Amino acid sequence: MPTTGEPPTEVPERIPRHVAIVMDGNGRWAQRAGLPRHAGHQAGADAVRRTVEEAIRVGVRVLTLFAFSSENWRRPKAEVALLMDLFLRALKRELPLLRANGVRLRILGDRRAFSEKLSRRMAEAEAATAGNDRLLLQVAANYGGRWDISEAARKLAIAARAGDLDPAQIDESTFAAALSFPDCGDPDLFIRTGGERRLSNFLLWQSAYSELYFTDTLWPDFDAAAFGEALRDYAGRQRRFGRTAEQVDEVVGG
Ligand code: FPP
Repeated sequence: MPTTGEPPTEVPERIPRHVAIVMDGNGRWAQRAGLPRHAGHQAGADAVRRTVEEAIRVGVRVLTLFAFSSENWRRPKAEVALLMDLFLRALKRELPLLRANGVRLRILGDRRAFSEKLSRRMAEAEAATAGNDRLLLQVAANYGGRWDISEAARKLAIAARAGDLDPAQIDESTFAAALSFPDCGDPDLFIRTGGERRLSNFLLWQSAYSELYFTDTLWPDFDAAAFGEALRDYAGRQRRFGRTAEQVDEVVGG
């Protein structure tokens, strides 16, 4: 992807392997600029591209973005149609750049609600980038954490009824393996832009031990500097996974 032209920001020592982002604030950004909401989503798409570039630059391996939640269908019809059109165009426009930069694209969520054209384009973009391994870019569309968990429960119940799975064997790892894309690891860093401090039904199971980072920056303003701030904040945290600080120090100290 083209370089942003900005001076390279300092890269912190500890880079999260997997970063998940709730991209919030497009509407407010547009409102503040006196523009229609769709201009905010358009600017949000530019921020997606910048964030992908920066993730590659600093060495993040998995980036999971919340583009459209199961609840976003409740928005005015015209806005939903516009977002679908934006996704359709972005998939076409960005594909050569994704390929050239070794980005593998995966769409996360229930696609049955999308038009045939959009579903087809999603599948084509996934297939065209399937061999890439520099960055795994996961875009959650018509996704909800509760949907993900209930789908996993349904799959396990069907397997149990068919006699392929002993219900007594179901534990956290069997359950996690039944969720969408269990192969990418849980998010280390979970970012939400736009000032709200909630998860909004994103990656509920997977974010159990994620470091949470909330910023007032509106998504279209999220740039390399804002991403760098989140990465520095993460680098300064100690992840204990239930252990004591002393135990973690022992492990780190060898
Ligand atoms: C939240 O802002 C944003 C969305 C619901 C849509 C996210 C879409 C993009 C960032 C555009 C393109 C994405 C891709 C993957 C190409 P909001 O509208 O809820 O903002 P508000 O809270 O200020 O109203």
